[in-house]
Amino acid sequence: MAKKQTADILTLLPKNSAAYERNGGIYFLGDSTHLLASKDFAALRGRVNLILTSPPYPLNRKKSYGNLIGEKYLEWFTSLAPIFSDLLTEDGSIVLEIGNAWESGRPVQSLLHLESLLGFVRHKGAGLRLIQQFVCYNPSRLPSPAQWVTVNRIRTVDSFTHVWWLAKTDFPKADNSKVLRPYSNSMKRLLKRGSYNAGKRPSEHVISEKSFLNDHGGSIAHNLFEMDALDPEREVRLPNIFSMANNASNDYFHRECKKRGITPHPARMPLGLASFFIEFLTDKGDLVLDPFAGSNTTGYSAAATGRYWVGIDVQDFYVQQSLIRFDHQDSFERGASI
Ligand SMILES: C[S@@+](CC[C@H](N)C(=O)[O-])C[C@H]1O[C@@H](n2cnc3c(N)ncnc32)[C@H](O)[C@@H]1O
Repeated sequence: MAKKQTADILTLLPKNSAAYERNGGIYFLGDSTHLLASKDFAALRGRVNLILTSPPYPLNRKKSYGNLIGEKYLEWFTSLAPIFSDLLTEDGSIVLEIGNAWESGRPVQSLLHLESLLGFVRHKGAGLRLIQQFVCYNPSRLPSPAQWVTVNRIRTVDSFTHVWWLAKTDFPKADNSKVLRPYSNSMKRLLKRGSYNAGKRPSEHVISEKSFLNDHGGSIAHNLFEMDALDPEREVRLPNIFSMANNASNDYFHRECKKRGITPHPARMPLGLASFFIEFLTDKGDLVLDPFAGSNTTGYSAAATGRYWVGIDVQDFYVQQSLIRFDHQDSFERGASI
């Protein structure tokens, strides 16, 4: 969508009830389920290129930010599908990051997140499909579920989140050449040498003499994000966009919260994850929405990469702390065009 058109859409939103506006985006305080289905937000229908969000996780016990539990969660989550689908452009995408859930008081995983995915994708009024699943492995997550991992020591640390990419068509806008991984050292050597052993591999793949000799600037990203090395002998090669995003600007938010005595949002999305999907699935000037924006990792990443953004969160405390991100103006050099 042309930049001017996207900017015009934002002017049609009820700006006088916005919590704040920064760097091509608007943050609203409120319940997104109600706001997004209301007349006030009708201007967004069919205009959002990417809904990128980490919804409240399905928990079997309430957390500070008010998650629903059990069947109620499933019903609520499923009801979001037609609302989100209605907001998307025809080639737009929805990306949901969600953690595992565990049965209350039992060392057993809940199926709730999987049922939620099925309910969401199969909702008849939404016309969605699962485009691809990703796994985000995060070694710095605290050991959980704590009772079973650290006290009884009968389970291992639950250390990854699911990332589900959904769309209304089989061919949503996407370009993996925008999110390349750096080449491995062996690939760099191979490109330098200009030759390798062609022929049939044990896997039956037939490798031609030239197939690996073109330098594409990096290799194609995988659907597992390994934030630290699983194997210490091997370098971690996250897409370039992760290393860009996980630089000082990421620490900035955390450092500033600490300095100002603010407890940072407990379930922040990795900044690199947000930037990865924004770069992969949208163009500069497109519109990115996060209906459960919390500390506004999504809005900040969108702004830093030259996209427009809309965020919504029901907790004023998180809306206010998210402003800290926009104090780090160095981040906006790349996306300064908005
Ligand atoms: C997992 S957190 C999102 C964190 C965010 N991705 C970040 O990086 O900081 C989920 C957020 O959803 C918000 N939330 C829960 N129910 C909501 C609702 N009905 N409408 C809007 N926000 C809601 C919570 O306040 C919480 O901040």
